[in-house]
Amino acid sequence: MSGIYDDPWAYALACSFRDVAAETDAILRWCAAHGTAVRTVLELAAGPGEHAREFARRGLAATALDLNPVMCAFAEREAKAAGVAVEVVRDDMTRFDLGRRFDLIVTMLDSTSHLMTLDAFVAHLRRAAAHLAPGGLYVIEMSHPRDRLTDEPSVGTAWTVEADGVRASVRWGEPGDRLDPVTQIADDHVTMTITEGGATRVIRDVVPYRFWTATELDAAVRLAGGLEAVVRLGDFDDAVPLDAPDAWRMITVLRGQGAGAQPGIG
Ligand SMILES: C[S@@+](CC[C@H](N)C(=O)[O-])C[C@H]1O[C@@H](n2cnc3c(N)ncnc32)[C@H](O)[C@@H]1O
Repeated sequence: MSGIYDDPWAYALACSFRDVAAETDAILRWCAAHGTAVRTVLELAAGPGEHAREFARRGLAATALDLNPVMCAFAEREAKAAGVAVEVVRDDMTRFDLGRRFDLIVTMLDSTSHLMTLDAFVAHLRRAAAHLAPGGLYVIEMSHPRDRLTDEPSVGTAWTVEADGVRASVRWGEPGDRLDPVTQIADDHVTMTITEGGATRVIRDVVPYRFWTATELDAAVRLAGGLEAVVRLGDFDDAVPLDAPDAWRMITVLRGQGAGAQPGIG
């Protein structure tokens, strides 16, 4: 069965509720506030590479990395169509070795939920640390923990988007998609109903989701080494801390410590 990540156009449409330009503004603002001059950016688990494309539009040298070849081909096509240069690399975010460092690395929209084990998360963080220039920042955007740990989620699991005469109703998760209390993994049932010119098609998928708590992420950062926590926010608006009532994301900004790991060393 072909899943939601094998249909990058549909995936991008489902996620088009985001304001990618505003998110990019916020990330660059954080870099400026922490004294990080950004010329090079690496987006990990980039999917369609929307943030990489937006960084490239702003004149930065942008690289997008994803494991799925279909996503990579789509990211390349979209960058070309937008008239911007984005280097697209097919690789695994726990194993990549690009042989150079970046001023900024980002992983957006909970893509670290595809790291299913602590070993995978630590390997991922070591690879990120090894690819950060001294003083460079690594921004990880995750869902707010409230969404999985309480009955009062900060975001809904159903929404509708419209673009260029196409309408899509998305359900990302069903009430029965509970975290396994031991593994912290849920099988998220995804249904996307796309209507275009009177024709309707439905994409169904089951996407495994590994929930990471804030304290687990802190511990993984310490285990990995080479990174230090800078700030944690609950929104792209800098004034919203993670524990604020209106917080709806968990955004962690880490700084590379520069010394030690080299891009080629695991
Ligand atoms: C939720 S999508 C997010 C895409 C993108 N970050 C965004 O903001 O739209 C998750 C992406 O992670 C990719 N992915 C999953 N496991 C990966 C891995 N081990 N290494 C690199 N990419 C991976 C999938 O192919 C998919 O494109």
